[in-house]
Parts: sequence; structure tokens; C-alpha cells
Amino acid sequence: MDQSSERDLTKKRAVQFRAEGAFSLVTGGSRGIGYSIARALAFSGSNVCITAVNTERLESARARLASETGATIVALPCDVGDEAQVKALFCELKTRWPFLDMAVNNAGIGVFKKAVETTGDEWDRVMRVNARGTFLCCREEMLWMAGTGGGRIVNVSSVVGRKGYPNQAVYSASKHAIMGLTKVLAVEGQADNIRVQAICPGGTDTELISRARPDLDRSGLIRPEDVAGIVMFLLTLPDNAVVDEINVRRAGSQPGFAG
Ligand SMILES: NC(=O)c1ccc[n+]([C@@H]2O[C@H](COP(=O)([O-])OP(=O)(O)OC[C@H]3O[C@@H](n4cnc5c(N)ncnc54)[C@H](OP(=O)(O)O)[C@@H]3O)[C@@H](O)[C@H]2O)c1
Repeated sequence: MDQSSERDLTKKRAVQFRAEGAFSLVTGGSRGIGYSIARALAFSGSNVCITAVNTERLESARARLASETGATIVALPCDVGDEAQVKALFCELKTRWPFLDMAVNNAGIGVFKKAVETTGDEWDRVMRVNARGTFLCCREEMLWMAGTGGGRIVNVSSVVGRKGYPNQAVYSASKHAIMGLTKVLAVEGQADNIRVQAICPGGTDTELISRARPDLDRSGLIRPEDVAGIVMFLLTLPDNAVVDEINVRRAGSQPGFAG
């Protein structure tokens, strides 16, 4: 597409708030919750870019998603905590896609220890991916979306972004940071037709939860595809209603109303 026809297209464009034909980005899309979100978007007809650090897992996820869904899947390695890599990711994506309709900032890691046992390096490592990584990606997404008519962003926080749990000091702090950022961006994005929302899942059956909560019976966990379904609901809500955040807890865990 040449530059002038791309400009015309962006001027006339009605932002896609349905997945079909949309351009979507999912960070941490190589496995777990991110993979399920990418799969749901692809099955709904969206073009999807997934990112992760481990290139073998990323390529294998791309191949599986493409063969299963028939959608166009782009896989680009990117450490979300690295500013230069995040900028390079968006430069590359802009050469391939005219817009970014939907973005899910899902990449995350955890260190699961009491605060008094957490080292300064562990604190920095988790904050760098979860808080800084979400910020760096949101910034690029919003700059792109603002220039092309708007878009929708979902940040993947956690129930520990709402409450405090033992042994999750830095992880919980990083997820609270995502909630604070999301609240600010929800306000700042309004003028540019950018909706920024958060999902706060409870224990979901992935590699991460087996380290965070080895005490939990896996059969009682939320399934990644259930979280993906709720993210799809957030991404494709009609224009006139806004859901700022959704808390999803395991059946049998303490209701949020009780805390
Ligand atoms: N599972 C739960 O119970 C639960 C509950 C609430 C919230 N969450 C949140 O949901 C999100 C996904 O978690 P998950 O349970 O699906 O975890 P997971 O199975 O461990 O997957 C994490 C994903 O993030 C990617 N990633 C890690 N570090 C990255 C970095 N620096 N840059 C880019 N990508 C990176 C991983 O890619 P590589 O293969 O390259 O490492 C992988 O694709 C996280 O934000 C997590 O905090 C999870």
C-alpha cells in the first residue's frame, strides 16, 4: 500500500471493534493465557501478531495457530521490558499492517516469595517485565492508535493486582502498577477513541500458576480459554458501554465482596 492511499484509508476508517478483519497484537502469546487469547482472536477472523522472548516456542506457537485457525499469524520476538526492542517491534509491525485495532498486554513473569525474602534483583526483574513492559507496549500502541482513529487495549493484571496475597510481594506490586497505569490510560485515551481496560484473572491453569500456587488442585483452576473468552468480550464490546476492569476468580475461592 503506498503512503497516500494509506493516509486516505486511516482518515475514512471506522475503528474495528469486532475481531473479523482486525489487526491484533498479543504479547506473551507463545503459551498459556496469551496463546489462548491469540487463538480466540484468530478464530474470530483477526490477523494476529504474537510476541515472546523464546524464539523456538514462539515459532512453534505461530505454526500451530496458523494451521489450526487458518488466520494470518505473525510472530515477532520481543522482550517487552527492553525499550529498543519494543520500539523495533512496532516499527516492524507498521511496515506490515496499516492499523492496530486491538492489543492485549499479557506478557508476564513472577517471583513467588515473601517480601522479606525477595532480593532487589528479583524485584527489578519482575517489575521490568510486568510494569515497565506493559507501560512500554501501551505507549507504542496508543501512539499508533491515536494516529489511526483509535483502538482497544486490554492489560492482563491479576486478582493480586486488587488484593494482597502472601508469597507474592513483587508479583502483586507489579500487578497493582498495571492497574494504576490502566486507570490513567483509560482517561488519557478517551479523546483519541482508545479504550484501555484490565482483566484480573485468578488462578489459571498455566506454567506460571504451577510455580505461584503449587498447593492448588489443577482441576479446579480457571482454563486459559475461559480467560480468553472474557478478553474477547472486553475487546468487542459495543461503543456505548465501557467495562473498565473484570475480576475473574476461581470457583471456590473467596468472593471479592467478602474481602
Ligand atoms: N496463570 C495465572 O494464574 C494468572 C493469573 C492472573 C494473571 N496472570 C497473568 O497472565 C499473563 C500470562 O500468564 P500465564 O499464566 O499464561 O504465564 P506463562 O504460561 O508463563 O506465559 C507467559 C508468557 O509471557 C512471555 N514472556 C515472559 N517474559 C517475557 C518478556 N520479557 N517479554 C515478552 N514476553 C515474555 C512468555 O514467553 P517466553 O516463552 O518467551 O518466556 C509466555 O509467552 C501474565 O501477565 C500473568 O501474570 C496469570
